[in-house]
Amino acid sequence: MKESEHRTAYRTHVAGELRSEHIGAKVRLAGWVHRRRDLGGRVFIDLRDRFGVVQVSCGTDSLNETQLDQVRRLGAEVVIAVTGEVVPRPQEAVNPDMTTGTIEVRAEEIRTLAPALTPPIPVAYGAEEELASEELRLRYRFLDLRRPDLQRNLRLRHRIFQTIRQALDELDFVEVETPILTRPTPEGARDYITPSRVSKGEFYALPQSPQLYKQILMVAGFDRYFQIARCLRDEDLRADRQPEFTQLDLEMSFVQEDDLFAVGEAVMARVWKECAGREVARPFPRLSYREAVELYGTDKPDLRISWQIVDLSDALRASEFRVFSESLGAGGRVRGLLIPGGAELSRKALSELDGLAQEAGAPGVLWIKFGEDGAQGGIAKQLSGTEIAGLRSLSAATSGDLLLVVAGADRVTGPALDLLRRELAHSRDAVEEGDRFLWVTDFPLFEADPDTGEPVPSHHPFTSFAAEDGERLESDPLAVRSRAYDLVYNGTELGSGSIRINQPDLQERVLAVLGIGREEAQRKFGFLLEAFKYGAPPHGGFALGLDRLVMKLTGSTSLRDVIAFPKTTAARALMEGAPAPVSEDELLDLGIRLVERSGA
Ligand code: AMO
Repeated sequence: MKESEHRTAYRTHVAGELRSEHIGAKVRLAGWVHRRRDLGGRVFIDLRDRFGVVQVSCGTDSLNETQLDQVRRLGAEVVIAVTGEVVPRPQEAVNPDMTTGTIEVRAEEIRTLAPALTPPIPVAYGAEEELASEELRLRYRFLDLRRPDLQRNLRLRHRIFQTIRQALDELDFVEVETPILTRPTPEGARDYITPSRVSKGEFYALPQSPQLYKQILMVAGFDRYFQIARCLRDEDLRADRQPEFTQLDLEMSFVQEDDLFAVGEAVMARVWKECAGREVARPFPRLSYREAVELYGTDKPDLRISWQIVDLSDALRASEFRVFSESLGAGGRVRGLLIPGGAELSRKALSELDGLAQEAGAPGVLWIKFGEDGAQGGIAKQLSGTEIAGLRSLSAATSGDLLLVVAGADRVTGPALDLLRRELAHSRDAVEEGDRFLWVTDFPLFEADPDTGEPVPSHHPFTSFAAEDGERLESDPLAVRSRAYDLVYNGTELGSGSIRINQPDLQERVLAVLGIGREEAQRKFGFLLEAFKYGAPPHGGFALGLDRLVMKLTGSTSLRDVIAFPKTTAARALMEGAPAPVSEDELLDLGIRLVERSGA
């Protein structure tokens, strides 16, 4: 943006743009008192606006005593307007760490535009100030947002959104808004519901995603839809989950996986290039869900780590070591992870790994070290020479390596080895630099509900399935592969989607397997099923979690650092104070009476 475009009724320039070339210019600036230093004869104010900080020099050469006295009383964060001349700093006062460090503004007039109380949290600028507690920062979000880190994050967020919009517009996508007051959408979380005043006793649900609407837009002939959409889900929160979050939601007609992946890859490559200046290798690799959990123990592997899980069972079939014989006997496997150079790990470090494995739900982790003269330590004594040779060959271990071993069912060994792989790779500096995208495909269509064992959708009930698995839909539903996929980036699930069912009869079969009868289906999403009867094109799409994407591109560790007004893990908004009770009258208007819940 050109300088002149920053000019407003209050200013001719902005603080951060002033350089040596402005020397001699008369400027008017407006912003916050970032810091004040009183050196007796001269008082220096660091004036801050969105664009940076500039030093304002105040002395009797350009101000009278009364004015200088007023300057001396200016507290932090007071809003001021400064008029003065840009002058060079004396050589010894040049600050190479400041973009405006060669000049200062010699104040001729300083006006207070608004007072400020002493800030309850520091408006930390630079690394020198320590952050206040997150609770206080969320309570005083308007102050915390003045921090350059958060300013930068939100500006990058804006840039990413603009880039996505432009890229998709060029690809002929149409951005369509879908309702916020709607019916429940089946994404598997609890709904936020909102009472209707006009229709007492009835409720809207806030959308968990625009899933049903985007499919209807395909039936309606839009061919290519996208939306930067707000989604609301009442679920247990973690660092990478917010109750309100934003998706890039997208749907296309007459497509298969390759078409969607090409669009997803083009948009990601463009965002990484324009917003981070990084080239991304395309096409992204693909792994089936089976391969992913086999090699990495997770469906969102971080490919920056080259270590892979190996199946050691074949070397241990005859083992007399109980842990192995029992696990193998019970249909489990013995799986291992080779840590190159890991033989140097101390006993203490190894016992900490045990704790990690337990955290992931395994009984623990076994280990064996390989040296010049064979294997030592851990389980070495429990195994025969042949077994040790088998382990060495299956894991391709060389001298100095450590082999971690977990035995049991895959659902136990996978998560434990996944966690160990990630933790150790980070602590041993074995995570390569780079942007590693990956499509994970062929997820199972259903998974067993942990409580009832009944099939529940692993993505959502509108996901299509592999044609060749169709005959097993009713007889062996858990073996049916879906046409759902995830986009994974450096070990984080950025997005997911699927090719949808567009045939009413297939949709009914899937719903029947889920135990959703005609009547219930009609009640829950009859409008979608009805639309399908009027010519639904083959279609598919995906949704990317944009908060997560911004988190990755800014290097943040919490979604709260990339959302302007986030909620706490208890889903509370601390600044505005939400949720909050409403008055009896309002409730009466809505036809709602609160009941005391026993124990609540
Ligand atoms: P899904 O439920 O997998 O798919 O969501 C897609 C992506 O949205 C992000 N995400 C979240 N981000 C922050 N906080 C949350 N609570 C949260 N939940 C999900 C993740 C996730 O990968 N309608 C389908 C998509 C489709 O089939 O097209 C859907 O919403 O990055």
